[in-house]
Amino acid sequence: MTVSQDRYSSIAIWLHWILAILILGQIAGGLITEDIESKALKFELVQWHKSFGMLVLVLSFFRLYWRFAHKPPAPPAAMTGAEKMIVKITHVLFYVLMIGIPLFGWMVVSASPKDIDLTLFKIIPWPHLPFIPKGENSVEILKEVHEYLAFAMLGLLALHVLAALKHHYKDKDDVLTRMVTFMKPKR
Ligand code: HEM
Ligand code: HEM
Repeated sequence: MTVSQDRYSSIAIWLHWILAILILGQIAGGLITEDIESKALKFELVQWHKSFGMLVLVLSFFRLYWRFAHKPPAPPAAMTGAEKMIVKITHVLFYVLMIGIPLFGWMVVSASPKDIDLTLFKIIPWPHLPFIPKGENSVEILKEVHEYLAFAMLGLLALHVLAALKHHYKDKDDVLTRMVTFMKPKR
């Protein structure tokens, strides 16, 4: 494990922002697709949703590995023990959701009696998960879990963004700047 520095590694920063964009796009895309009338357009959009969703899953596993291999910068000295604990819980929950949401999406597809082949980005053949009971009932339950987890992510994100802004504008510490490559870390 490398020594803690005053900011996140550039790989951690890139992964953070690329995944933030992909995940927000996935939540918006999933919700918009739900209400589309045209069957052909809906089918096409859902295939892209599955492809980008699997990309989120793969990148999140890599990010988790990276997080363990590279020590993040230490929390600001003024932070209390309780605050540090809340930050830790939030970050762990983010990882659980970043991996759990696409896993449940994958389970939805694997449970479908329609047995639609998964081909990511129209070129990469991808297997279904084994041992998932097939049937409309399982699809409905798994879809609900997939959706509720996505809403939980939105709730957590609201807290996360408010906390980042509070640190930057009220506490005036380096919590935001150390996660943004082009910002000079505040000292
Ligand atoms: C970070 C990744 C993902 C996020 C945030 C996400 C989010 C969402 C949301 C908000 C919905 C709308 C709720 C619903 O229709 O029940 C949805 C639907 C869906 N998602 Fe995902 N999803 C992700 C990854 C995946 C993956 C990896 C797959 C499959 C491989 C997948 C398959 C589906 C399917 C089949 C639907 C239902 C589409 C429909 O019939 O309207 N999702 N997703
Ligand atoms: C779905 C979107 C997002 C997810 C899943 C997410 C997740 C995470 C995670 C897991 C960390 C811990 C560091 C790491 O392991 O890389 C982190 C740190 C951070 N995030 Fe996000 N984030 C998202 C969006 C945002 C947004 C929109 C902002 C903008 C204000 C933001 C600002 C930060 C900051 C400033 C840190 C550093 C906090 C610290 O050092 O304690 N994040 N984020």
